[in-house]
Amino acid sequence: MQEEVPMKTESCKSDLTIPINSYEDVILARQRVRELMSRMKFSLLDQTRVVTAVSELSRNIIVHAGKGRMILKSYDEVGRRGFKCIFEDKGPGIADISMAMKEGFSTTRSLGLGLGGSKKLCSHFSIDSAPGKGTKVEIAEWK
Ligand SMILES: Nc1ncnc2c1ncn2[C@@H]1O[C@H](COP(=O)(O)OP(=O)(O)OP(=O)(O)O)[C@@H](O)[C@H]1O
Ligand SMILES: [Mg+2]
Repeated sequence: MQEEVPMKTESCKSDLTIPINSYEDVILARQRVRELMSRMKFSLLDQTRVVTAVSELSRNIIVHAGKGRMILKSYDEVGRRGFKCIFEDKGPGIADISMAMKEGFSTTRSLGLGLGGSKKLCSHFSIDSAPGKGTKVEIAEWK
């Protein structure tokens, strides 16, 4: 896998890629985010809030796309300290994003709470997906 080179305008302090290929990887992704948040002195409540979303979004990769990755980028610069988690897969993609975001909508007869719940839990949430293109979800937290 190719290493992403941080852009000059976005001075990313560290950049970690975690392949999401199994439920063990979901646990690893949770641990990495919790460790980073703890180092960055986010509260335990904040940690639990974001780790819950990380769980749902990485689980979606396994369930709906089979495999993908989480990229964890941390930033420590004047006026901005925080991190982003980017969940990417090359799975089937989502035809109707606003429908998929609705709580209770699921194509796998599950609860359909993952996407809508993650948006509520995170300070910043964005999603980009299209059939045949895969799915990219980005969450971010700043101090
Ligand atoms: N990475 C993805 N690739 C393709 N489709 C996705 C992806 N993530 C979500 N979806 C689609 O969006 C729908 C809603 O996702 P959401 O996580 O809210 O619910 P769910 O995964 O079906 O159920 P739950 O997460 O509550 O167990 C899914 O049923 C699926 O159709
Ligand atoms: Mg889900």
